[in-house]
Amino acid sequence: MRELLNWAIAALREADIEFPELDAEVLLAHTLGVSRSQLHVRKNYDLDAETEETFRSLVARRLRHEPVAYITGHKEFFGLDLEVDSRVLIPRPETETLVEIALAVVRQRGLLSLAEVGAGSGAIAIALAVNLPGVDIYAIDSSSGALAVAEENCRRHRVLDRVFLLQGDLLEPLPEPVGLIVANLPYVSEAELKTLAPDITRYEPLSALDGGADGLKHIRRLLEQADAHLRPSGIICLEIGATQASAVNDAVREKFPAATVALVRDLAGLDRVAVIAA
Ligand SMILES: C[S@@+](CC[C@H](N)C(=O)[O-])C[C@H]1O[C@@H](n2cnc3c(N)ncnc32)[C@H](O)[C@@H]1O
Repeated sequence: MRELLNWAIAALREADIEFPELDAEVLLAHTLGVSRSQLHVRKNYDLDAETEETFRSLVARRLRHEPVAYITGHKEFFGLDLEVDSRVLIPRPETETLVEIALAVVRQRGLLSLAEVGAGSGAIAIALAVNLPGVDIYAIDSSSGALAVAEENCRRHRVLDRVFLLQGDLLEPLPEPVGLIVANLPYVSEAELKTLAPDITRYEPLSALDGGADGLKHIRRLLEQADAHLRPSGIICLEIGATQASAVNDAVREKFPAATVALVRDLAGLDRVAVIAA
């Protein structure tokens, strides 16, 4: 096992994969059907020829820069195990900041429903539903593939009775006004898209990344639609790119001149969430 791991680590390092040890261990643990910590505790497993071949084929996929989460089919988000595949963006740790804020808003205001736009794997909607018993969540996405993944994840976490998956453009499918709109819409600008790692651009859906010329194409349209779908004194929480705070502030001012916009940083200290009190 050690020999095989060393081979994988060297090969991944050679291919400029950022975390060769971690990825090799995760892929080996996945192949063996054990956790990474079990791998560490037991230190050695006998691998038959077939298992070794399976592991080598997973490493080969990683060498082509396919993200580990697509290879294993899993990603942890907000302490929840989610199924992911190439139809959805892999949930990012920084998005947990958006979840924390949405949880606080719902609890503080005693809301009974909210809308999440751009649901993808269902990560945000499910994290909210699991932590907010009794709250209904409308989770919208334009992609039928993404909604199929989200449905599977809702079933897995037993929240399908409270997460209503709707297909359509931004807020259009929303059946009633809500007191909170949460969105992690695609916000990568044209210029930034060109600088992203091949792990992202070759494998993750472009429709989950591409935010148009300055990255704010979808956010602007959401703000346009929000009036008709937000209850009086409602809140909009948007995940944004680290350099977009001032442009988002301008876009909000244009649509809601009286609104207040608060910025929240993620754990890396970067501007990550705009909280808009309309
Ligand atoms: C950045 S991903 C976020 C996925 C998930 N909420 C997360 O945080 O991991 C954005 C999602 O927005 C969806 N999307 C893009 N344009 C949309 C539109 N006009 N209306 C609804 N959803 C849209 C994409 O299909 C994608 O699933």
